[in-house]
Amino acid sequence: MRSPSLSGLEFAYLMKNELINLITNKQAHIGVIGLGYVGLPLLVEFASKGFKATGFEVDESKAEQINAGTSYIGDVPSRKVQEVVDARRLQATTDFNHLGECDAIIICVPTPLRKTKEPDISYILAASEEIAKRLHRGQVIVLESTTYPGTTDEVLLPMFEEKGLKLDEDFLLAFSPERVDPGNPSFLTHNIPKVVGGVTPDSTEVATHLYSHIVKDVHGVSSARVAEAAKLLENTFRAVNIGMANEMARLCYALNIDTWEVIRAAATKPFGFMPFYPGPGIGGHCIPLDPHYLLWKARQHGFDSRFISLAEEVNSRMPEHVVQLVSDGLNDERKAMKGSNVLVLGVAYKKDVNDVRESPALSIIDRLRAKGANVRYHDPFVSEVRFDDAHTDVSGEPLESVPLTDEELRAADCVIIVTDHSEIDYKRVCSLAPLIVDTRNALNGDIRRESSARIIRL
Ligand SMILES: NC(=O)c1ccc[n+]([C@@H]2O[C@H](COP(=O)([O-])OP(=O)(O)OC[C@H]3O[C@@H](n4cnc5c(N)ncnc54)[C@H](O)[C@@H]3O)[C@@H](O)[C@H]2O)c1
Repeated sequence: MRSPSLSGLEFAYLMKNELINLITNKQAHIGVIGLGYVGLPLLVEFASKGFKATGFEVDESKAEQINAGTSYIGDVPSRKVQEVVDARRLQATTDFNHLGECDAIIICVPTPLRKTKEPDISYILAASEEIAKRLHRGQVIVLESTTYPGTTDEVLLPMFEEKGLKLDEDFLLAFSPERVDPGNPSFLTHNIPKVVGGVTPDSTEVATHLYSHIVKDVHGVSSARVAEAAKLLENTFRAVNIGMANEMARLCYALNIDTWEVIRAAATKPFGFMPFYPGPGIGGHCIPLDPHYLLWKARQHGFDSRFISLAEEVNSRMPEHVVQLVSDGLNDERKAMKGSNVLVLGVAYKKDVNDVRESPALSIIDRLRAKGANVRYHDPFVSEVRFDDAHTDVSGEPLESVPLTDEELRAADCVIIVTDHSEIDYKRVCSLAPLIVDTRNALNGDIRRESSARIIRL
């Protein structure tokens, strides 16, 4: 209970220091809401560093798998999960009442777009509602889900204060964007620098202290809004530069110049240039979506970001361009798209991951099927693809990955390399397939020189 003899400032000081001591002594209980690509690695990292960590999920099967010591995320080995489960430092639950036992709660739920391309923060609201019901003095809440600037202090703060608790005196609130790069073995949670912005300086201080136990380099900023905007700048920067590379690829195709050689040459400049590469389109839960969060917020303030719209326009046309390359290739062989056998290699949105969210492969397959092609696919990471995701316009019968046999390659009129997974033997693909559209520069010079296949590159 709050002592009437203490001023608000003194009370805030005590609360902050209690939390800092709990974290320093690793007695703080950490809760992570949403155990996907972002939340599970984070939860396991805290548990591995000696904290008691509880994961909160709406998906019961995920909670069960974690409690059984099994990981369903490629970058998190089951062995690591098993270790901390056995040590009784990690558990997962669907019972949100345990949120009341946590000193720090981190929200890592999805932030998709509505069909209208407006931000859908309903998952953040649902998670925050669960927190608000159990919020008590001495808790620090951190939002990690990517969102528009202002979400933490305009949306979350009033939800928590409505419960009669005061920021700083009773609880702390911050935003810290996640930068995980699934499938990247060099950068994992512990060695990716973390940006932290609190709604108040005390919030920044405590949240920074918390993350400093699991991340080497923590960069505090002056507000949650700065941290929210920094994340959107990072991903918008990628979307815009990939858009530039994609435009360059189409231009080079028209001029009959090798795009990849052009980029390789430009990249020899040791300053003022950073290479970005073209591809079949952008995918995943971040690059295609995040810029729209910024665009939406900008429009609320009467500002239109033309860079974002233009990049989206260029990037979203890439699947159409890939289908055009297939059509051109078949045409040269006197074949029509209708009735042709097309084998798609890789449907994940990037190499060596199993994530098909927003993957350009879905749009490419949809377009090929609309033109009457018989489409099959092989992906060592994705056994089945469905086309009924509420957030996309793609539809149609689900497909199952086929084994990459010699017969499959020979039977294809065209093979499209949409995702350049490392474990595919591209030399073999080139020796058996008659026509290949390579959207990722997966076929290097040697393979291309020795190939009997006709190769069209983006
Ligand atoms: N995947 C990435 O590479 C990446 C990188 C950086 C940032 N992000 C951002 O991180 C956030 C999470 O992305 P992700 O890729 O981990 O998503 P994900 O879909 O892999 O995981 C989210 C998890 O949250 C669970 N969930 C949904 N609502 C919930 C609720 N109310 N309570 C508890 N659990 C709930 C889902 O069941 C799911 O397991 C998003 O905002 C995303 O933009 C993702």
